[in-house]
Amino acid sequence: MTTLVGVGVGPGDPDLVTVKAANLLAKADVVFVPVADSGETGRAEQTVLFYAEAWRVQRVVFALHDRQHTARREQAWDDAAAQVARWFTEHPGGTAAFATIGDPCVYSTFTYLAETVRGLVGGLDVQLIPGITAMQDLAARSGTPLVEGREMLSLFPMTAGPERFREALRRGDAVVAYKFGRMLPETLAALRDTERLDGAVYGAGLGLPEEDIRPARDLDPMGRGPYLSTLIVPPKRTGRGHGLR
Ligand SMILES: C[S@@+](CC[C@H](N)C(=O)[O-])C[C@H]1O[C@@H](n2cnc3c(N)ncnc32)[C@H](O)[C@@H]1O
Repeated sequence: MTTLVGVGVGPGDPDLVTVKAANLLAKADVVFVPVADSGETGRAEQTVLFYAEAWRVQRVVFALHDRQHTARREQAWDDAAAQVARWFTEHPGGTAAFATIGDPCVYSTFTYLAETVRGLVGGLDVQLIPGITAMQDLAARSGTPLVEGREMLSLFPMTAGPERFREALRRGDAVVAYKFGRMLPETLAALRDTERLDGAVYGAGLGLPEEDIRPARDLDPMGRGPYLSTLIVPPKRTGRGHGLR
């Protein structure tokens, strides 16, 4: 069976790779990793190298930080899918893993890749292995329960625009923000204006040597965060069982 497996390798700490993912990374014929065109070792790649020998790892270049749906990004998806499809032509019946940070079903390049490779490789079996997401890691490291009782959770990419982020904050739900590094001032302003700054927790570089976790109110209101920054805004809670009331 020709198999492509999208495997989540967590946000950064290699100890946060599941046993299932580690087993696959140890035995797959090849492990593809997404990298930016800068030539640097990719974030997923750094974790993969704890579990797979370098000779089984192949880089696939993506326009990882293009924020819009650009032609350059479309071209990168096509080129990446063609590279993976070529590998299957040369290794019929092989198993390829594609590693992605966090979970492969949460804002992951795997979604686009799998769709395109399916169209190129007949009889391809696509499977998924979940991974621990950045929001789960930040919740655990900062001791912030994400949701309790009847509370609701919105996961919000700041690239969707600050207005929709403000709407989610005004509703009072638990809100998690991703992809806001360059938009940190707008993100903090939205928290202040909706009176949700107190209790919000910021985490950058989770599980990595540069990890920085702190209350959002301690951040420079005009500063910028790195691309790998996550924010948890818990609902206002008043004591045990608040979310059940
Ligand atoms: C393209 S999304 C990938 C999400 C990932 N698939 C997940 O399940 O968490 C990239 C965003 O994930 C968050 N992220 C991923 N890894 C992180 C880390 N180590 N530290 C902080 N935020 C991280 C950041 O908000 C970043 O902008």
